[in-house]
Amino acid sequence: MFSAEFPGALAPVAGLTLVGVGPGDSQLLTVAAVRAIRAAAVVAYPVARLEAEGMAAQIAAPWMGPEQRRLPLLFPMVSEAEPRRQAWHAAAAVLAAEVASGQAVVLLCAGDTSLYASASYALLALAERHPTCPVAVIPGITAVAAAAAAGRWPLALQQDALLIRPTPDDPAQLEALLAEAAAAATVLALLKLGHRWAWVRPLLAQRNLLVGALFAQRVGWPDQLVAPALEVPADEQPYFSLLLIRQSWPEVLP
Ligand SMILES: C[S@@+](CC[C@H](N)C(=O)[O-])C[C@H]1O[C@@H](n2cnc3c(N)ncnc32)[C@H](O)[C@@H]1O
Repeated sequence: MFSAEFPGALAPVAGLTLVGVGPGDSQLLTVAAVRAIRAAAVVAYPVARLEAEGMAAQIAAPWMGPEQRRLPLLFPMVSEAEPRRQAWHAAAAVLAAEVASGQAVVLLCAGDTSLYASASYALLALAERHPTCPVAVIPGITAVAAAAAAGRWPLALQQDALLIRPTPDDPAQLEALLAEAAAAATVLALLKLGHRWAWVRPLLAQRNLLVGALFAQRVGWPDQLVAPALEVPADEQPYFSLLLIRQSWPEVLP
């Protein structure tokens, strides 16, 4: 059945594959991602707490089989450097050991593997301490691209620049960023919006920037909210929310 949907060999390839699984909808994995997951003996995925299910694992669940071994890896969401470093190296050591024992291993990653991603830390830690471990990377659809698609919101046109970054931590930083973006025809994609929305919204309202900005929360999940920013009240929002801001359009348009 699977090989009819996705023709080609499905022989497990020993080694580690970092797999971007997209932002939430299990239909937004690439064919290559599904193939790599199906071919793996061990499916690793990041969790913030060991008892948690893991977002990437939830997204990829429809493509996993009961015979595959699940391997949750702890990537704690803390600000201190040392626990994070320890966790990255511990995860890399576990992955390298699985690969050394001959297993085909995938490490799932929500969205893309290279954009503010746990997979990137695993990649760097492997290169540092396990440089002979074979690693392949399959990119994924980012939350930014999925939000733009869901909102029918062109991200960048012609000479526009596009800046994807975390939402600044205070109003003065955001004001400076908006001024720079306006001067350089830069569309802003602000991640990690969450609780900051309570002050970001009034600041954008003052500058008349809510019109045309797109708010996107939990894109691809059943409770997805993608709406003009103007329609979203200034309450605290979940961590999985982002904002797209365009301050000008190119002159030549349809
Ligand atoms: C650590 S970054 C991970 C980005 C991810 N690797 C990607 O490629 O989209 C997490 C931030 O991405 C955004 N994000 C991730 N998934 C999202 C989703 N399903 N809906 C809205 N925003 C999402 C949020 O701004 C969140 O705070």
